[in-house]
Amino acid sequence: MCGIVGYVAGADTSGAKDIIINGLRRLEYRGYDSSGIALYKDGKFETRKSVGGLENLEKLVDDPEFDSYMGIGHTRWATHGVPSNANAHPHSNEDETVTIIHNGIIENYLELREMLAEKHGVKFKSETDSEVIAHLIGVNYEGDFLQAVHKTVDMMRGAYALVTVCAHEPDKIIGVRKDAPMIAGIGKGCNFIASDIPALLEHSKEVLIVENNETIIVTKDDIQILGADRKPVTREPLHITWDVDAAEKGGYDHFMLKEIHEQPEGIKDTLMKRLKDDDTINLDGIEMTKEDIEGFNKVYIVACGTAYHAGLVGKAAIEKMARIPVEVDVASEFRYRDPFVDDKTLFIAISQSGETLDTLAALREAKNKGARILSVVNVVGSSVARESDDVVYTWAGPEIAVASTKAYTTQLVCMYLIALFMGKVKGSIDDKYYKEIIAELKTIPGKVSEILNREGIIKDAAERFFNKNDIFFIGRGPDSGVSLEGSLKLKEISYINSFAIAAGELKHGTIALMDEKTLVIALDTQDFLFEKMLSNIKEVKARDAYVIALAKDGHTDIEREADEVIYIPECRDELTPLLSVVPLQIFAYYVAKCRGCNIDKPKNLAKSVTVE
Ligand code: G6P
Repeated sequence: MCGIVGYVAGADTSGAKDIIINGLRRLEYRGYDSSGIALYKDGKFETRKSVGGLENLEKLVDDPEFDSYMGIGHTRWATHGVPSNANAHPHSNEDETVTIIHNGIIENYLELREMLAEKHGVKFKSETDSEVIAHLIGVNYEGDFLQAVHKTVDMMRGAYALVTVCAHEPDKIIGVRKDAPMIAGIGKGCNFIASDIPALLEHSKEVLIVENNETIIVTKDDIQILGADRKPVTREPLHITWDVDAAEKGGYDHFMLKEIHEQPEGIKDTLMKRLKDDDTINLDGIEMTKEDIEGFNKVYIVACGTAYHAGLVGKAAIEKMARIPVEVDVASEFRYRDPFVDDKTLFIAISQSGETLDTLAALREAKNKGARILSVVNVVGSSVARESDDVVYTWAGPEIAVASTKAYTTQLVCMYLIALFMGKVKGSIDDKYYKEIIAELKTIPGKVSEILNREGIIKDAAERFFNKNDIFFIGRGPDSGVSLEGSLKLKEISYINSFAIAAGELKHGTIALMDEKTLVIALDTQDFLFEKMLSNIKEVKARDAYVIALAKDGHTDIEREADEVIYIPECRDELTPLLSVVPLQIFAYYVAKCRGCNIDKPKNLAKSVTVE
């Protein structure tokens, strides 16, 4: 998510400012909303930070006096607290002896914040979860920086790449990693710490990967790694042969493939950080009582593109679990059709960017008519988020490829959580069902990884069919919504004419298009619709179409009807969209690759559409 760069050289040198800012620039591609730098000067760390692009920070530090031999810098992608100067990193404790930068989320930050305020009288300057870390290290400091850091991380729950410096020991940078990337780079007379390889590639090709729960102590001559047991670990550096372009993509050929592979992590973050120890859902502090929920006579889910497809899955989940009628609409239609919205309506906007103009306009329309506005958004502090009553963030991290992948699956997780939360509060689902769904949701990241392990099978199919002119997607129930998303992925990046249709509707027209040149991708993942879909597969086979089916492991009966089958792990019917979309994303990716398309930036498309 955010970018981290730390640098330390000999105390008689300078130039840390440019090295750190250039390193941050190398991480710009990931997206960020603010940045900051702290340099050691005259016995203390001096911090400067700014919202907006790095050019704003550069203006702030355009002062030859402001430089050093060591320091840390950060680009922030907001999670807790809007993008602002105050919320930008670095953060310091009150006497400014400890300064930190942090990627990730501290789950128990509210508790820690209260404790720091009550017991130590701490006054916070930002709304971030990260600021608590600086104060905690400060209060835990008893003459040994490393000990204070360890005492602090032992009090923290969550995910973090934490990098910190201390005015009492200005020769070192300490980093601790848990579920967020961190590396160190070996320089000549200097050393580096960073969240990602591109940040230091200009200066170092020898990189040490920091593993989970490890601590790293970086000085100008040495990089020491301590294991989870805090005992020294020896590690051979990796020699990096990537150029900057490959490094930005983490070694993948495209951001889209990287983002497809980030889904297990994204799904896990979005889910697990909202589940308390007893499996109750903490929906980001949203207050929605039984009376509130019973008071809604209708839910509208409004979005565009991929987010709209996530809405279709959300509709099924909310109707099943919260037993409220749900309408899903594309934002550009909703806003012009004088919809039935009043103060008994719950309006849910879904948007990765939070800036899509049609979605925003629809939201405003619903707000004017008195609806309660809940949004599911990836970009913190975006317009949709700001104008909503309640926000559930997807925590997918920056999505760079135009074709959305990890934003979609994390949007689905949020929709399931909203449906479960509403159903539980309203009492429309029983405890047994609730627990079963939560237990199944927890298995999803592992199952997505399993599908990613089967990537070769899907790639092979893509390599055989990339020359097709028409590809149809069919499915029933939840599979029908996922078909739309699979088809959209394919047309967005491969420019193949593709069409998705509810399988039962085929016979009312579309089947006329089927012949021996047609490829049909048939999703058949729903146990209760399995036989019905087999009949639909037979229908298109009878018109000589070639069928690739998608089914759950063990449902081998399908091999009798389909020409070939791609299997996904076993899963409850309600949750299969989280799995079945993944092979379709991979298929679209490899088809586009075989066709030599510009995968991350398809022609005529934009990541964020801020025009009508
Ligand atoms: C554009 C993007 C799509 C996205 C849609 C909605 O068309 O190319 O990938 O699904 O906008 O964007 P949003 O940011 O509102 O989710």
